[in-house]
Amino acid sequence: MAKRWTARQVRALKGKERIPVVTCYDWAFARLCDEAGFPVLLVGDSLGNTVLGHETTIPVRLEDMIHHAAAVMRARPKALVVVDMPFLSFQVNAEKALEAAGRILQETGADAVKLEGGHRSADAVQKITEAGIPVMGHLGLTPQSVLEFGGYGVQGRGPAGNILVDDACLLEDAGAFSIVLEKIPAPLAERITRKVSIPTIGIGAGVGCDGQVLVLHDILGLVPAFKPRFVKRYADLGATVVEALIRYATEVRDGSFPGPEHAYDEEEESP
Ligand code: KIV
Repeated sequence: MAKRWTARQVRALKGKERIPVVTCYDWAFARLCDEAGFPVLLVGDSLGNTVLGHETTIPVRLEDMIHHAAAVMRARPKALVVVDMPFLSFQVNAEKALEAAGRILQETGADAVKLEGGHRSADAVQKITEAGIPVMGHLGLTPQSVLEFGGYGVQGRGPAGNILVDDACLLEDAGAFSIVLEKIPAPLAERITRKVSIPTIGIGAGVGCDGQVLVLHDILGLVPAFKPRFVKRYADLGATVVEALIRYATEVRDGSFPGPEHAYDEEEESP
């Protein structure tokens, strides 16, 4: 079996090659994502929206993350699997954050955690990395703060950009091995990317980052109504799925499925 990616190896890609990352929430897609050769899979708390049908990521619980991350890990991916720390699993204090990160690793077998925020989260990042757990940071539009932001708008415009640059440095100093930059102006993302020596992974942050991450369901068109400007849709699986299901239902109704090739007779061995 080929070796699995480590956080150290992913970090070392900075300046050498761009890093593609995709979210993943279950066993079946983890197998497909891994076959496609991603070095990093992110079990994002976006599963609150894409899989559980919540309007925000705020209702997502630690148990939900562990449940889905464990399913991804059962695919035995070669990719580094990073698991999002959900709302309130790391904000209370650094000790509680370490306990939650430890549960994620012990109960799923995943390789790393991701948590949102800069100066507010730096203590938690430091505590977790000092325990030997690789951490991915997340700055800019951090969806767990949607109520504070008042929506999902671009972050870091104007002087607020300087705070994000400082936050990125704080996360690097606290031991993060990479940082997601979400929905910030492209020139700011380039500035942060030049400033830190760990890879930046952009989403809606332009081409100047060290890597890019997108939500699997957005790339594949599984939620057709949702298409923000920063998403590129590489397939239209939503339509393909509905078409296939209509054909199946039609064939059941008209009796053309199952055909003789799908039925068993008395003698034949059943494979
Ligand atoms: O939860 C998630 O999917 C994320 C990515 C969009 C970065 O945090």
